[in-house]
Amino acid sequence: MILPGVPVVGAERRSQVAELSRRTARQPEDLVRVIREELQVDLTARYAGLTIPHPFGIGAGQLSCTLKQVQDGVAAGLAFMVLKTVIAENPSGGRSMDAWAQGETRMKVEHRTSAAGREGWTVTWKGRGWPGTLAEYLEFLEQSLGAAREKDMPVIPSVKYHLPKVGEPFDTAEYRHTTDAMLGVWGRAGCGGDMILEKDFSPTLAGDDRAGQREAILQWIAEVPCLVGGGVQLGLKLMNALFDDQFQVDMTRAAGKAAFLVVFNRLFDLDRRVAFGGYDLSDRNLRVLDRLGSEALPPLVGTGNICSGRMMLEYALRGCESGQVHTFFQLPVSEYTGTGGGRIARALHTLLLHPTDGLVVWLLHLQEAGRLEPRDGVIHFLDAVRKHD
Ligand SMILES: Cc1cc2nc3c(=O)[nH]c(=O)nc-3n(C[C@H](O)[C@H](O)[C@H](O)COP(=O)(O)O)c2cc1C
Repeated sequence: MILPGVPVVGAERRSQVAELSRRTARQPEDLVRVIREELQVDLTARYAGLTIPHPFGIGAGQLSCTLKQVQDGVAAGLAFMVLKTVIAENPSGGRSMDAWAQGETRMKVEHRTSAAGREGWTVTWKGRGWPGTLAEYLEFLEQSLGAAREKDMPVIPSVKYHLPKVGEPFDTAEYRHTTDAMLGVWGRAGCGGDMILEKDFSPTLAGDDRAGQREAILQWIAEVPCLVGGGVQLGLKLMNALFDDQFQVDMTRAAGKAAFLVVFNRLFDLDRRVAFGGYDLSDRNLRVLDRLGSEALPPLVGTGNICSGRMMLEYALRGCESGQVHTFFQLPVSEYTGTGGGRIARALHTLLLHPTDGLVVWLLHLQEAGRLEPRDGVIHFLDAVRKHD
């Protein structure tokens, strides 16, 4: 970790944050504007080249499977939302990755102590991708883009396309058919510009036979962006492979053709055959990002145990311009500082304004430590993001 145990912020600023946190807890609305006006902290962030009001979005998963979830996310002021991963189809409806369209069991939100002894949270779940068809997903995508339009919240589809074993060809028809179908929805919805799309390399994939060979993984990462083709800003959501940190670095370096990278999806427990998170996940991700230093990479989005504003800042200090959260939005509501509004709004209030763990107090800490210079009297989240060049 780069940041110390507690934020070092002068008494006056500290009590301003605590007072604002208390005052907005029951009605956590329009927080980004209020924070800028009252505390001179600008939370503007970036996702896939888009400017977003703050860094916290929902990553693809069980919190982005229904229109209601999208509507709730828009109402709560999420910065962006990546829809549940759909399994790609060829023109006859066949799916080479059909095994990933499995039905799900119930999710269980659990405490998890990391190898280094820190207690965090993880969600245990045995399901995989979107269980329905591509046609159903397209309808969901269209409705979601419509629901998010008024507040201009980016909604991004996520796909799992064919990944061959070493020596086998890619099923290019599946790539073309699925991408074209999504581009059709994107165009009809009047989104304009290139479609932003994530390709999910999931933790369950890491536990699959075909990911046992390093050569195969590096080939997927290098070639998938070429197969998805024009009209798309493709982000690769990289898995945590079952190899060492150096391989994770090599994998990230191999992803140079992507428009952006999401680093890195959950770890996989081979014995229990489940994915997991918590501090083991953030420790690994931050360690790998440290090894990458400031070398040239596509823009980065962090994911993994972003359960506080402070953890978001740890990712930002290593180059991540925003964060994809899942687990934190599923915690018992007693964990949140927000006491009014829906679950997502309460969680966002915590991520931003927790008096000792929120993003705002930690940005003020950087300012007082002389590591974040105000511009026109305002400090900016994006100025804290490590540059990769
Ligand atoms: C129950 C569950 C389902 C998920 N499903 C997907 C998925 O379909 N596609 C994907 O790209 N990531 C998926 N994820 C990964 C999350 O989007 C996120 O990147 C990951 O959980 C790390 O963030 P967290 O520590 O905040 O949970 C899932 C995570 C969970 C917990």
